[in-house]
Amino acid sequence: MSNTEHPTVKKAVIPAAGLGTRFLPITKSQPKEMIPVVDKPTIQYVVEEAVASGVNDILIITGRGKRAIEDHFDRSFELESVLKKKNDYNAVAKLEEIAKLADIHYIRQKIAAGLGHAVLCAEKHIGNNPFVVLLGDAITLSNNPCTRNLIEHYNKFGASMVAVERVPRQEVKNYGIIQAEKVGDYLYKVIDLVEKPSPKDAPSDLAMLGRYVLTPGIFKALAQTKPGLGGEVQLTDALKHLLKNEEIYAFEVTGPRYDIGNKLSWIKATIELALLNEEFGPELRKYLKELLK
Ligand code: G1P
Repeated sequence: MSNTEHPTVKKAVIPAAGLGTRFLPITKSQPKEMIPVVDKPTIQYVVEEAVASGVNDILIITGRGKRAIEDHFDRSFELESVLKKKNDYNAVAKLEEIAKLADIHYIRQKIAAGLGHAVLCAEKHIGNNPFVVLLGDAITLSNNPCTRNLIEHYNKFGASMVAVERVPRQEVKNYGIIQAEKVGDYLYKVIDLVEKPSPKDAPSDLAMLGRYVLTPGIFKALAQTKPGLGGEVQLTDALKHLLKNEEIYAFEVTGPRYDIGNKLSWIKATIELALLNEEFGPELRKYLKELLK
């Protein structure tokens, strides 16, 4: 561990090119990142997490059929003028806020070659700097945002960081799993990583949940990474390469995290966030109590 100054994390990458096959049929014509949770698309929560963590230069990796994402973060003059005619300046301000949230750039991943390949598409934009990766279909909830927490730890260690959470043993097959040595409260030094192992082969129950701070060394590691599970270039495999030359640390997150690619997790996210809503949360709570009687 060192306390020297490290290059600052200034940029974020949000991979959002996946096909969303676990959420068909809605994802046939809608990007899964645009699936709404209460009244916002999932990816807006993700962008807001990056901004709340002090990062407002954001590169979104998109693909075919993902144009709705760009439209969402753009101005919508037609809609604004209709709302102005109705004197609904509150709604206009909300729309403008979305367009001003961050400095968002886009690049397309032209082939569906995996998460690792998507991150490699960011190399030119990122250059020789550390950066954060936030998966576009995962929402985390916490007063101290998960990404901010990771960046704070990166500032101490100067090494790549992955956010992990404990998952039930039968679910390890859905995640990248780390083997790690505990070095502090909720803090681990990564020894090995494996993408979606079977429960019997998993080295632990610590699953990567879709938030990473990566050093630029990851690009060389990605370039060396051959297609792995599912014939795709896996970010987990590239981290394994990176581990040969650099240390990687993991931070265990305990706050709620929702995988919006998964239907049940999306339903839970919708209910929990709706219950927190000032306008209709209390009413919904009453309704749910009645319904479950
Ligand atoms: C990806 C990563 C995996 C990670 C997971 C988190 O998998 O490859 O390592 O644990 O995101 O959601 P995917 O869910 O895209 O299959």
